[in-house]
Amino acid sequence: MDRYSQAASRVREKLPTEPGPRDFVRFATLAANSHNTQPWKFRITRDSVDILPDFARRTPVVDPDDHHLYVTLGCAVENLLIAANANGRAATATVQNDDADTSIRVDLNRGPETDGTLCDAIPRRQSTKSDYDGTPLSDAEWRALEKSAAHEGVMALFIKDRARIDQALEFIQAGNSAQMDNPDFVNELMSWIRFSTKTSIKKGDGLSGPPAGNPNLPDWLGPILFRLTFKKNKENDKLARQLGSSAGLVIFVAEDESPEGWIKVGRSFERFALQATALGLCHAHVNMPVEEPAVRPGFAKWLGVAGRRPDLVIRVGRSEPMPMSLRRPLDDVILA
Ligand SMILES: Cc1cc2nc3c(=O)[nH]c(=O)nc-3n(C[C@H](O)[C@H](O)[C@H](O)COP(=O)(O)O)c2cc1C
Repeated sequence: MDRYSQAASRVREKLPTEPGPRDFVRFATLAANSHNTQPWKFRITRDSVDILPDFARRTPVVDPDDHHLYVTLGCAVENLLIAANANGRAATATVQNDDADTSIRVDLNRGPETDGTLCDAIPRRQSTKSDYDGTPLSDAEWRALEKSAAHEGVMALFIKDRARIDQALEFIQAGNSAQMDNPDFVNELMSWIRFSTKTSIKKGDGLSGPPAGNPNLPDWLGPILFRLTFKKNKENDKLARQLGSSAGLVIFVAEDESPEGWIKVGRSFERFALQATALGLCHAHVNMPVEEPAVRPGFAKWLGVAGRRPDLVIRVGRSEPMPMSLRRPLDDVILA
C-alpha cells in the first residue's frame, strides 16, 4: 500500500470492541465536509461530546454566511450519533446557542446496541467525484434513500426524471460558470487543493489529488498547471458527463434558514449518504446553483420552493469507489 492509502486507511480503522467518546469523535471526523476544511473542534467529557465550529477554517468566498460550515457540523453530529448508538449508547444531540456561536452537545448515556449497518458504512462513505455508470436505481433503492433522508425540519426533493435532470444541469452549469468567472472563488478553491501527496499527508486536510483522480504534482507546479487547465467549458462538459451518468439528484431544503436549520440538513444528508454507501451506491455534491446567489432564486422557483433557500444538491448513482480523502490527527481537533 502506498503512503497516501496508508494514511487514508489509518483514520478509518475499525472501532475497538468497547469504543469510548474519543473513538466516536474519530468516526465523526470521517463525515463529509465542505472542501475538506474540517471546520470542527470537539470537547470530550466522560458522558458527552461538544461539537464546536472552528471559524479559523471558514471559506468566506464560497460560504460567506457559514452555511456550509454548519451543514458540515450536522454531518459530524450524525456520524457521532450513529457510531455511539450502534455501540451501546443512547446518544442524543442538542443544539446550543451561546452568545453568538451555535454548537452541539451530544449526550452519551448508556443504552442498548442498535443496528450497525450505517455505522459500518461510516469508514466506507466517500464523495465519489468520478463519472457514474449510467444505470438506474430500483424502486426499493429509491425508497430506502427517501426513508434515510427523512428528518424533521428538512425537505428532500428527489429528481429521477431524465428531462428534469437535464434542466437541473443548466442551473448547475450557470452556477459553475459564475464561480469560475470569480477570481476570488478560484483563489480560495486553490488554497484548499493539496497538489503533492507529501503536503496532503502532512496537512491531512483539503482537496487531495487521489479522490478527484488527479496526479501527484510538485507543490510549485500544481498551481501553474491548475490555472492552465481549469477552464469553464471543460468543467461544464465534465458536469454534463457527471449528471448524464447519474441516476438522479437529491436536493435538501431546510425549513429554517439558520445555523440550527443547516445542522438539520447536514444530519439528513449524512444519513442519506451512509444509506447510499450501505446499498453500494455513490453520491457527490454539485452545489453550484445553491452557492451562487445570482442563480439560487431561479433554481428555488424551478424546484417549486420559491422564496426558500435550497441547501445541497447531490447526485447519486453507481460507480467504482475512488481513493479515500484524508483527515487531520485527532489531537488537532480535540480540545485539551
Ligand atoms: C456542505 C458541503 C458542501 C460540499 N460542497 C461540495 C461541492 O460543491 N463540490 C464537491 O465536489 N464536493 C463538495 N463537498 C464534498 C467534500 O468535498 C467532501 O466531503 C470532502 O472533500 C471530504 O471527502 P469525503 O466526503 O470523500 O470524505 C461538500 C461537502 C459538504 C458537507
